[in-house]
Amino acid sequence: MAATAGSSSPGSLLLLRKVGGHGSWVPAAAGFDGGRSRRAAGFAVSCTAVKPSSPVSPLAAAAHSPSDRVFNFAAGPATLPEKVIRKAQEELVDYRGSGMSIMEMSHRGKEFDGVIKKAESDLRELLGIPSDYSVLFLQGGATTQFAAIPLNLCSPEDSADFIVTGSWGDKAYKEAQKYCKANLIWSGKPEKYTKIPSFDQIQQTAGARYLHICANETIHGVEFKDYPIPAGAGAGEVLVADMSSNFCSKPVDVSRFGLIYAGAQKNVGPSGVTIVIARSDLLGKAQPITPVMLDLKIHADSASLYNTPPCLAIYVCGLVFEDLLEQGGLKEVEKKNAHKAGILYDAIDGSGGFYVCPVEESVRSLMNVPFTLERSDLEKKFIEEAAKEGMVQLKGHRSVGGVRASIYNAMPLAGVEKLVAFMKDFQARHP
Ligand SMILES: Cc1ncc(COP(=O)(O)O)c(C=O)c1O
Repeated sequence: MAATAGSSSPGSLLLLRKVGGHGSWVPAAAGFDGGRSRRAAGFAVSCTAVKPSSPVSPLAAAAHSPSDRVFNFAAGPATLPEKVIRKAQEELVDYRGSGMSIMEMSHRGKEFDGVIKKAESDLRELLGIPSDYSVLFLQGGATTQFAAIPLNLCSPEDSADFIVTGSWGDKAYKEAQKYCKANLIWSGKPEKYTKIPSFDQIQQTAGARYLHICANETIHGVEFKDYPIPAGAGAGEVLVADMSSNFCSKPVDVSRFGLIYAGAQKNVGPSGVTIVIARSDLLGKAQPITPVMLDLKIHADSASLYNTPPCLAIYVCGLVFEDLLEQGGLKEVEKKNAHKAGILYDAIDGSGGFYVCPVEESVRSLMNVPFTLERSDLEKKFIEEAAKEGMVQLKGHRSVGGVRASIYNAMPLAGVEKLVAFMKDFQARHP
């Protein structure tokens, strides 16, 4: 599909799109169609630039178009609640009577102050974050925290232990080696990252400052169902978790952790903001070489406003937190997630080997469900046919291949049910 705006008139921003096979042509905003133009069936896009007879704002057109969004199974950036996107759209041009968009206003003004404070207090309520923990909204992705955490929690001579259950934990371990004595105390690599070790198997390092885990490995679909206790907990060792891909998917006892971090773009918002929840007494001892932007104490002391924060992304996270609270909080959200994952794993396990999930049953992720087809030559066809049915981004990570369905909080049950029905149909058509 070549969608081009062919003139520089105001109308050039508008494309025509046809709704339904014989439906009417309606304006759609170029680059603002929410992925709808990817839908193949019964959908065509004209490339003609038009000048509307009466002014039609692209945003108004998008706001009033019926919901024909695809089911997006991407691992991140990932699907967000449609309700949140529509609310953001509604408020985008004039944020609550301020006459400005969130993107245009000062991060130190009263409107944004309200946004960030509300986002923080809703997140505190959702996760029951104790008052002696700082909540930070930072930039640089979870990857930046791979360096920031050892820089903040260790001297170069200090040890930190890593349990590596997948590619992200491995990256965190390798980055930490630059800033402290990072020890790999368990790796699931020999078993292709399909397991979590039993905690009494693990030999932790005496005197380590922290024990690092990746709570949910996005690529491999392995999730901690319980958490290890750092051996030197009495002497100040803490548990640190990368929760990027299961953040706010279930209740978590934050007090068991010294620090939790998560990139927002899977479960709670758009990319651009990384949330760090850190026990306040751990901060303030960063290595002297720590760049100011990686010094967590500096961000904590300035309430995440040391420099210009990712305002729009924080605002959208705030809308997501509100939505999660409205749903009844994380216990309710977890129930829905367990139900969605349950029907998908049941479909895989009940396929008689046509579909296979390699992950040990007790540690299968509720968020990322990787599977292969017994006949690997059919995988490409499976993914292409699913996309034609409006179920997109099902390709497994490039490092492991196969299929991966990411079913974060915002994936509706209907999306998972549709996928399961498609899987059964596909199997029936390929005996
Ligand atoms: C578990 C986990 N950790 C870290 C990252 C890296 O996050 P970012 O791209 O925000 O740096 C990802 C990204 O997919 C992830 O899934």
